[in-house]
This record gives sequence, structure tokens and C-alpha cells, in this order.
Amino acid sequence: MKSFYLTTPIYYVNDAPHIGHAYTTVAGDVLTRWHRQRGESVWFLTGTDEHGQKVMRTAEQNNSAPQAWVDKLVKEAWLPNWRALNIANDDFIRTTESRHTERVQRFLQSLKDSGHIYAGKYEGPYCVGCEEFKLPGDLIDADGEKLCPIHSKPVELVNENNWFFKLSEFAPLLLEHYKKNPQACQPESARNEVIAFLEGGVSDLSISRSTFNWGIPVPWDTDQVVYVWFDALLNYATAVGLTDAPDSAGGKKFAATWPADVHLVGKDILRFHAVIWPAMLMAAGVDIPKKVFAHGWLLVGGEKMSKSKLTGIAPSDITDHFGVDAFRYYFLRAIPFGSDGSFSWEDMSARYTSELANDFGNLASRLAAMIEKYCDGKVPAVAQDAALAEALSTTVTQADEAMVALDFQGGINAAMDFCKRVNGYVTEKEPWILAKDPANQKVLEEVLYNTAESIRALAVLLHPVMPQTTEILWESLGVKESLGPIGSQKISEIARWGQLPAGSVITKTPVLFPRLETKA
Ligand code: ME8
Ligand code: MG
Repeated sequence: MKSFYLTTPIYYVNDAPHIGHAYTTVAGDVLTRWHRQRGESVWFLTGTDEHGQKVMRTAEQNNSAPQAWVDKLVKEAWLPNWRALNIANDDFIRTTESRHTERVQRFLQSLKDSGHIYAGKYEGPYCVGCEEFKLPGDLIDADGEKLCPIHSKPVELVNENNWFFKLSEFAPLLLEHYKKNPQACQPESARNEVIAFLEGGVSDLSISRSTFNWGIPVPWDTDQVVYVWFDALLNYATAVGLTDAPDSAGGKKFAATWPADVHLVGKDILRFHAVIWPAMLMAAGVDIPKKVFAHGWLLVGGEKMSKSKLTGIAPSDITDHFGVDAFRYYFLRAIPFGSDGSFSWEDMSARYTSELANDFGNLASRLAAMIEKYCDGKVPAVAQDAALAEALSTTVTQADEAMVALDFQGGINAAMDFCKRVNGYVTEKEPWILAKDPANQKVLEEVLYNTAESIRALAVLLHPVMPQTTEILWESLGVKESLGPIGSQKISEIARWGQLPAGSVITKTPVLFPRLETKA
């Protein structure tokens, strides 16, 4: 069975990660956890982009050799960051690894052999921040100086003899592909941008550089290094065995994984992924990815948060205060995936308190307290409330449809609306009033069972988004033995009512979302 294969961009290791990088990788982690809970085989790749001038210059500025610089940043900043955010990637690729460089060279040689590469001369503007050859029309004019619109920095003039890839040959095929397959590039705005770009005409691409040497040598002309994007894009396929013999381990992995189901990227790098990358694959006769999804930017002062502009907020600045799960929840909940959004401490505090602490956390602690008080800490006999069970069933369908379509906000909202519904149920049934008359014990127990069973479902629904908190909740429901680990609960089974066994011992959890300290 082919795996659901999802990738994030591989990030430049010119500096430590900020919340923009975390945004993409958390989204990928949530989506792959969701697909795992759908019972699918999943492969989730992330990694680092380590070659090119941008990384080389940063290393120089830090009086470091480039390899030493990237080794240090990966080890001290990037890997610990993903561990701290609870990212469950299956592999991590670094473009300086030999498994990558060797396969890139083989791939490039095959394109050369099949006539897709020729010698030429490149003359034109280049933005080192983007590592991109720019078209004059891309640039903004500031008092006669040409600036990159993304980095607001002057572009450099490149004038070199390089190797070129016949990108232009593939424009008509790509245009037809995106017109025929709306799913192949999402959201709609991204697809329209790509179609307009392709309709505007595409030139061939310089794919090597000769004025510096921090890169993969071009196999037949070792005075040149491979253009960093040509090298980087290939990571998605080299990581799973591209160019390996079909009967080798790499070849088998490739057959079981490729084509990628989703390349998750920010909209800054859409063209690379939706134009250059599939053209490279088409030239080699390899299947192209099923979908590129370009999400929006986290903004600071109306501009894209960026390492280059030093506007990056470190994920730990937020997780130290709100916790990891609230971080994972907040950005996907607050910003429709595909749109830009601004981070606001106030908005995050407000949602933390009302949605996570009050709606979700309190529901769990109230239930544990009532089960302890009225039922000796044990889940009462299985009961059912038809309306609640029906609402859950609708919730799971909605959440699944939304998540699979990368509508994280819709998926989370479906779960949180159900959470509100359960709170409403408890408020309406008033178990604390029922408890005053022993004649009501049976009704009281039914209400508590229905509440507990709803929380069982909520824990599973929210597990991909908030793995640690829901794990604690799962422990407190005392169902690890009877139902198995939370991570193996299937989405398709969530709505089956009555799974929580009578007699399960409920323990009080530590407060799931503690009251926030006021910020000094
Ligand atoms: O472009 N808002 O790496 P990069 C949202 N190495 N997402 C953001 C963001 C922001 N303000 N800032 C960064 C590169 N991102 C290449 C990729 S892939 C073959 C090579 C996220 O370090 C978003 O996913 O500049 C964006 O596309 C990516 O980080 C760019 O990271
Ligand atoms: Mg960038």
C-alpha cells in the first residue's frame, strides 16, 4: 500500500527557526497524525537546506566554515526545536548528507544525458535572500535601486556561464495539468497565481553557479555547483530513494512513497514547487506530486516575519508562556489555512482562556470531580443521549472532511463546537442538582456517562493537534488498557457511542490548561 507522503519545506539554516517555520511544520505534523489515525500508512519528511550563498555568507559572517555552521545550527537549534514542539516526523533530511548529494548528481546526469540541459550564459538580477533569479518585473524600485519585494533588499547582478535546464519546454504541459486538476495546487488563489505565471511565459533556468563553491559539484563540470533550489527541491525524492535500483531498499521505499501526496509550503516559495519542481520530474519521466498547498504568512507589522529581517519570534518565546499544545492549537485555529495572519499576544491569551482553559480543560476537570463525588471515581453504566450521539457523529464527519482538505480551522472548530455542545449538555442537566435527591441517581449516572463518553471522543479528535494534553486526559479516563493507546484510536470509530467501559477508574488530571501568569 502506498503511504500518505507529506513534506514540509527544508528550511535554510542561516539562523534558528522562528514561528513561521513552526507554523508549516506543526500543520504538517497535525495532518500526518490525523492521517495515521485514519489508519493510513504515513511518511512525514522535514529537513534542512544547507547549501547556497545565503547559508555560506552567514557562516562567513560568523567566522565559521559552512559545514561547521550548519552542523551546529541543526544540532543546537533545529532538531531540539522540532522535538520541543512534539513533531513526529519519520525522517529528517539534510542536503549535505551523501544520500542526498549522490542522488542529486545521478538525477542531474540523467537529465544531461537525455538532452534537457545545455550550456548558456546568465545575466540578470539575483536575490540571495530568496536564492532566486529575478525577472525585472518582479522587483520594486526604490530611488533607482532595485529591491527584492520579499526581502526589501537590493538584488545582485549575476553574470556567469552556467548550465541551463529547459524549463520552458514544460510550461504548456504544466498549464494543462493545473487547469485539469484543481486539486494539484491549493488554495484557489495559489493555483490562479501559478496559472497566470505560466501563461505569462517561462524561460529556461540556470541550474548551476560558478562563482562560489558551497554546493553539490555538477558531475560533468566540477568547477560549478548545482543551483541551491535545484538541489533543495530534489530532497523530497532523494530522501525516499530517487534514482536507486527498483529492487534495492531505496527503490522499494520510492515505490511505496512516491509521488508525494502533499508538499506543504509557504506562498513565498510557491513557484519553485508548482513550476520548477514538477518540470524537473517531468523531464526525468518521474510522477509529479499530487498536491502543492501554499499557506499564508505570519506577519509582523504587516510584513512577512523573517529571519533576514530579524523579525522572527522564537517558538519558545510563546511555548514558555502558553505551553506547546496551545501553540500547536492557536495558529491553526486562529488563521484560515491559506490566508495571512498576524500574531497577537492578546488574541492568543483570550483564546487560551476561553477555548482551551474554560471550554475544554474545565469540562475535563468538572467531569473528573463529579465522577469522584457521585460515582466513587468509576465510570457508571453505559448510557446514551440520542441528540449528543448524533451531534458527535456529525462532528466527526465534518472534522474529517475539513482536516483532509487542509482546512485545519474547520476541523478544529468542529471539535470545539462539540465541546461547547457538551458543556451545554452539562449545564442543562445540572448533575449537581440531580445529586441532591437519591431518587435521581440513575439519571445522574446517565448524564455523567454521556459526558465522559463525549470527552473520550474529544480527546481523540484533538489528539493530532494537542498530543500531550490529550494523552494526559486519556490517562485520566483510565482507558489505556481497555481501549488501547490514544494514538491508535481510529477517526472512523470515534463516533461509535458507548466505548468507554463502565467501571473505568477516572483520576483527576493535573489542570490541563493552567491559568496564565500575567506577563511581566
Ligand atoms: O525558502 N509565515 O527556506 P526558508 C509563514 N530553503 N510561514 C513562514 C514564514 C512566515 N512569516 N517564514 C517562513 C526556504 N515560513 C527554502 C525552501 S524547499 C525545497 C526549500 C515557512 O528557511 C514557510 O513554510 O526561507 C516558508 O515557505 C518557509 O518557512 C521558508 O523557509
Ligand atoms: Mg525564506
